[in-house]
Amino acid sequence: MTDLLYWLQGPVPETEPPTAEMPPWGETKVVGKPVPRVDAYERVSGSAVYPLDFALPDMLHAAILRSPHAHARVKAIDTSAAEKMPGVRAILTAFSPGADVPWYRSRGRFYSKLFDERVRHEGDEVAAVAAETRAQAFDALKAIRVEYEEFAFVLDPRESLAPDAPLVHDGGNRYGEPARYERGDLAAGFAAADAVVEATYSTACEIHAPMEVHGSVAKWDGNRLTIWDSTQGVFVVQQMVAGALKLPLANVRVIGHYMGGGFGSKLEAGKYTVIAALLAKTTARPVKLFLTREEVFLNAGNRPANTMKVKIGAKKDGALTAIEFSSIGSGGAYPNGADTSFLATDLYTCPNVAAVDENVAINAGRARAMRAPGFPQGAWALEQAMDELALKLGMDPVALRLANVPKVSQRRGNLPYTSTGLAECLRDGAKAFGWETTRAAKKDDGPIRKGYGVAAGMWGYGGGPPARVVVKLFADGSVNVNAGAADIGTGTKTVMAQTVAEELGVPLEKIQIEHADTGTTQYSGPSGGSKTVPSDMPAARAAAVEVRTKLLAGAAEELKVPAAELKLEGADVVSTKDPAKKLAVTEVPALQRNQVIVGVGTRGPNVEGKVISMFAAHFAEVEVNVRTGEVSVTKLVAAQDSARVMNRLTFECQVQGGLVMGLGLGRTEERVLDRQTGKMVNANWHDYKIPTALDVPVAQEVLSAELVDTECNTAGAKGVGEPATIPTAAAIANAVRDAVGLRVHDSPITPPKLAALLAAAGKKG
Ligand code: MOS
Repeated sequence: MTDLLYWLQGPVPETEPPTAEMPPWGETKVVGKPVPRVDAYERVSGSAVYPLDFALPDMLHAAILRSPHAHARVKAIDTSAAEKMPGVRAILTAFSPGADVPWYRSRGRFYSKLFDERVRHEGDEVAAVAAETRAQAFDALKAIRVEYEEFAFVLDPRESLAPDAPLVHDGGNRYGEPARYERGDLAAGFAAADAVVEATYSTACEIHAPMEVHGSVAKWDGNRLTIWDSTQGVFVVQQMVAGALKLPLANVRVIGHYMGGGFGSKLEAGKYTVIAALLAKTTARPVKLFLTREEVFLNAGNRPANTMKVKIGAKKDGALTAIEFSSIGSGGAYPNGADTSFLATDLYTCPNVAAVDENVAINAGRARAMRAPGFPQGAWALEQAMDELALKLGMDPVALRLANVPKVSQRRGNLPYTSTGLAECLRDGAKAFGWETTRAAKKDDGPIRKGYGVAAGMWGYGGGPPARVVVKLFADGSVNVNAGAADIGTGTKTVMAQTVAEELGVPLEKIQIEHADTGTTQYSGPSGGSKTVPSDMPAARAAAVEVRTKLLAGAAEELKVPAAELKLEGADVVSTKDPAKKLAVTEVPALQRNQVIVGVGTRGPNVEGKVISMFAAHFAEVEVNVRTGEVSVTKLVAAQDSARVMNRLTFECQVQGGLVMGLGLGRTEERVLDRQTGKMVNANWHDYKIPTALDVPVAQEVLSAELVDTECNTAGAKGVGEPATIPTAAAIANAVRDAVGLRVHDSPITPPKLAALLAAAGKKG
């Protein structure tokens, strides 16, 4: 499900109403405007009910007992004392009937159970308690006696394949065979090169760290289950819960109206969701189960650590002749994607390429898709290597990239893109940043050294079917939009209201969005992969167009003119030939008769024979203190190609968020596992450093190439969430190299790490 290829290939196409009735938007009235969120007041006033806020009468609270060991067998569990604790209503363990649910499937193989007798990382589920209060539930956990048989563990993917490495899973530590990709003749490519660079880069494991922790509330009505979940995709949770509990889909309703951030970690149901449902079933009470912050660090996903070897060759003019890339990463103790080679194989034109991705098991928390899974890591390696190559060739790093801008996706059958904005991003970004002038004026001043860096990136998935939206126009002229997509904080509801307002001329205040509820809304895939705008907005547009068509047909009957002659103008239907012929929308008899006009829109197939991708170029200015090794990022410029910008405000918010996460990858974020115990030593927001306001440069600029792309979909928009974070860290690393003449190959660039490198090179001030 969260495999990278899922995002890149997209689901199978289905048919939709003819898109001929939806020519590309010309000048727009609502779409593209910097409209504030339609739910801004609810969000800031606290009246928006997030799943974590949600409560039901008679609700129990649950907590999970987790393995303190990195690798062990649960020999015995004694719950007798816990059962007698105040308020305790139910306890589940690996030995409870009904808890024997297979979990973590990959390529047809199950890797664990809901509660497994073998625990494979610190934080693996061992037991769960439901009690009257949360405090009682946590107290009861402490009274559960577990006898473990401890095993040796492996924490570093580079050690996982050693002959004597402990086995995380019987049958070996590889999650499938290494994924290989090749084109052209690598040896010939390197032989033809005038310059070749080669180095190894690594990225640290990062945690998603959303503001709202993961969790669910579960309630049964007979054999029907309702779940309130903090999720990016209610339909995915419905499928996973129904599958785990062997229930028909129709019996599982999942509601996810608000959610406080996911970044990919909420693209699936958690074990916590199913555990809450089982405890609710046992107790015949609603059960709320939310993770603690520490549990989120241990067991709600991560961006895996990767080690990547890159070798690149180019001619004197910068034309790439060969790229060799190899990556090893880990899905964690249970399988998930860890591939990083995509950018190396498709960001630039290069005839000779070989790449291999190795994904192995370790005894640490399982990875989950994290904001452009694999791509920021790949950019960290590839874009630093490109910077080295530019130095070796004596070329401007922007010019080197411009010399290799792709016209087709070589990785995907040499198919052309619907639009490519990489060159525009590089040029516009360089101009806004003052790339040439600031670099020329650079001078070193005492212990503070300034540096400038650039990096490029792309994201390969432009959305697609299935998505369905229903628009209802009511007799009073107000509108209800019904869509399955979650608004994960990106502004989906707002952009959808704008899309519908554009077609119906209805003011935004008169539009209500009903969304993310498997019981009442239309199917949509999870909000992820930067695909919500390109997948769901065309469906919303089609639904609104259908409503308008029906409305105009009804007005035509009344006005006795052909419908083709009519247009919507504010609250009126007006003849384009005779302005005297007009009718208020609310007076159209067809609307009055039925009280509502309904339009159903589906997302049509993507254009055949083309590839939809988003591109970006990021520019960073840093100040490095050569005495302390401290790096301040003083300026960031992001130039994005996402085709149409649907809403300037939400677009900028997304890009700024992407820059901040990139800053985290480059400068501060790192899961630290203790080699002695296998435990995470910084599983909290004090020791795990996400960037704070003081780390974020005041000088930030967000540019959009705003290319016209009429082929990508009927909204003409490509998405931005992920491409906005892909090149940031690499741009910062390149700026550090520019500042001090040293390259930091391993993320994050912390003061101790950089100070040690400076000292070793005799450059410490
Ligand atoms: Mo994202 S990693 O597709 O939420």
